[in-house]
Amino acid sequence: MERLQKYIAACGVCSRRKAEEYIAEGRVSVNGRVVTEMGFKVGEDDVVKYMGRVILPEEKKVYLIINKPEGCVTTVSDDRGRKTVMDCIKGIRERVYPVGRLDYNTSGLLILTNDGEAANRLSHPKHNIDKVYVAAVQRVPEPAEIFFFENGIYLDGRKTAPAKLEVIGEEPPTLKITIHEGRNRQVRRMLEEIDNRAVSLKRISIGKISLGNLKKGKFREMTEEEINYIKHC
Ligand code: URA
Repeated sequence: MERLQKYIAACGVCSRRKAEEYIAEGRVSVNGRVVTEMGFKVGEDDVVKYMGRVILPEEKKVYLIINKPEGCVTTVSDDRGRKTVMDCIKGIRERVYPVGRLDYNTSGLLILTNDGEAANRLSHPKHNIDKVYVAAVQRVPEPAEIFFFENGIYLDGRKTAPAKLEVIGEEPPTLKITIHEGRNRQVRRMLEEIDNRAVSLKRISIGKISLGNLKKGKFREMTEEEINYIKHC
């Protein structure tokens, strides 16, 4: 239960102080009865109206990152009963959803939020946000193959945007790959186009958001700095 003026402010109608004025003026009703009493308390089941229209508290914006494990689908629910990314965020009450997708067998950084605007900004290719992956592959690519990969490869008749490929290990052959788009199975398909194959694939960052040492299957809330970044990137 909370005080009516606080509830009205939480609905985004106005400030608490202004709400007190509106209550005194008789603009607010609870369960069909006009309430002018200041200390009046309301709970979840009460129907509060301002100027005759029902008002509801705005949902708190939530920004999470998870380290998605392999063997889990990037959906909110799965009709085949497989594990989903939602299994990583047990205890979160807000209805967040994943931004973009990681394949069933890809692990690493995935953002979940209920902020639709931020989600759109992060996903749109025009914002040119680097997505960085580490791939264990079958073999170290030749310089010509790296050139070809970085320059852009035709997938489904459309060339990929310039990418970056760095060899960061030889035993086992390991690559750091940076792309800007999020096309279906993009990294795996680009590697196949240079006669290679990802044995494992993990995303380690999206723009300025990094996975750090977050354990597989775990989540954390974004820091204020990270939230500011995704709201303005
Ligand atoms: N590219 C892929 O091939 N798979 C992913 O999950 C992400 C990027």
